[in-house]
Amino acid sequence: MLKKIIKIEKKVQAVYQRVSPSFYPKSKERINFKKNKAFLKNLFFNYLKIPLGYLENKSMLEFGSGTGEFSINYLLWKMKADLIELNPISIEKCKKYFKKFSKTKNFKIINKSIFTFKSKKKYDFVSSIGVIHHTNYEQAFNVKAKFLKKNGFMMLGIGNAAGMFQRNLQRYIIYFLSDNNEQNSYNLVKYLFPYFLRRAQKYGRRTLDSIIYDNFINPKDHHPTTKALLNLAKKNKLKLYSSWPPIIPTFLNNSAQNFNYDIDDYKNVLSINDIFSMIHNADDAKKLKFIEKKTYKDVQIFNDLTMLINNIGDKKLPSITSLSRKIDKMSKKKSLSFLDSTNDTKLNYSNFQMELVKLLEILKTKNIKKLRDFLKTTKVLFKGNAGIGMNYYMFHKY
Ligand SMILES: C[S@@+](CC[C@H](N)C(=O)[O-])C[C@H]1O[C@@H](n2cnc3c(N)ncnc32)[C@H](O)[C@@H]1O
Repeated sequence: MLKKIIKIEKKVQAVYQRVSPSFYPKSKERINFKKNKAFLKNLFFNYLKIPLGYLENKSMLEFGSGTGEFSINYLLWKMKADLIELNPISIEKCKKYFKKFSKTKNFKIINKSIFTFKSKKKYDFVSSIGVIHHTNYEQAFNVKAKFLKKNGFMMLGIGNAAGMFQRNLQRYIIYFLSDNNEQNSYNLVKYLFPYFLRRAQKYGRRTLDSIIYDNFINPKDHHPTTKALLNLAKKNKLKLYSSWPPIIPTFLNNSAQNFNYDIDDYKNVLSINDIFSMIHNADDAKKLKFIEKKTYKDVQIFNDLTMLINNIGDKKLPSITSLSRKIDKMSKKKSLSFLDSTNDTKLNYSNFQMELVKLLEILKTKNIKKLRDFLKTTKVLFKGNAGIGMNYYMFHKY
C-alpha cells in the first residue's frame, strides 16, 4: 500500500516542483497576505466556531503547508507549529515568507511526507488545507488523527465529491480529449474553460499556470463523499464539530436538554447539503438577497402573530377578534411561502441534468468547437462558481 502511495506522491511532486500549486504573483504579496489573514480568521472563528484566543500556545501540526500563505496565521495566532511539507522548493519560499511577515521563531518546517513523518508527540490541533485529496486521503486522514491529542481538534480542508463534481467533470473532459498529452491538456483547458480560469484567478488570486497545473495536470484529485468522510471520522474516534458549508440541517428543533442522539449517525441527512454544493453557481449573498425580499412579508405576518400572544399579563389582553384576524392573515396569504425557497434549487438542478445529458452527447463526437459553443450557452453547468472547490471540517477527538 505504502509503495503505491509513494509512487503517486512522486508523480504529484513532479508536477508541483515544475509549477507550484500555491504560486501567488510577487506584486500581490502584501494584499494577499491581508486577504488570507481575513479569510483564515473568518474560517476558524465565524465558520468553524473556534475562538481565536483559544489557540494561543496550542500546538499545531500541519501537513502540506506549501509556501505558507495560510500557515503564517497559526504563527500570528501564537500557536506552536510543526509544518510537514514534501516540496523543498516550497519550504524555502515559506521560510522567506514567514521572515517577512512574522517575528516568531516558534515553528519548525520538516521536509517529510505525511506518510514518512515520525514523532511521539501528539498535538492540540492537526490541520491540512487542499492536500490530502492529492494522495490516498483515507490513509492521510488516519495519520492526521493519530497525531491528535484526546480532546484535540482536527481541521480538514478538502474538496468534496459533490462540490467538486463539476471540476472533476472538467478534468474528465480534458483527459478524454487530450490523448494523455500534457501540452494538449494545457491548451484545451484554456480553450474550453476561459471563464472558469478568469474567475479562479480573480478569486483564488493564483497565477494561471498554478491553477491549470494544480487542477488539471496534477495526476491525483480524489474527493470523499460526505458519508465516506463521516465514516473515516468515526473509525478514528472523531466527531464532527463544525463545517463550512454547514451540513447540519436547519430543521433540528430539539430542546437543548434533549441531546440523546448523535447527529454523526445520520449520514444521509448530513449529505443533503451536497445537492447545493453540486450546482452552486452564484454567491450566497445573491441567494440571500432574493430570499430576504421574498420572505419579508411572510415573516412579518408570522412575527405579528407570535408577538400578539406574547407578554400576556403585562399588556392589555388582545381580543379574540384580533387574534383570529392574524391567524386568518397567515392562512389567506398562503404565507410561510418561504418554506418553498428551495424551488430555485429544484429548477437549477433540472437544468443541470439536461445540460449534463447534452454535454455527453457532444463529447462523444469529440467536436471541440461544438463543445466550446455549447459550454457558452449553459445556464448552470460550469457557470459561476461551478460547485465548491473546498469544504472545511473541524473534527473533535473524543
Ligand atoms: C495544493 S497545495 C496546498 C498548500 C497549502 N496548504 C495551501 O493551502 O496553500 C498542496 C501541498 O501539499 C504538499 N503535499 C502533497 N502531498 C504531500 C504529502 N504526501 N506529504 C506532505 N506534503 C504533501 C504539496 O507539496 C503542496 O505544497
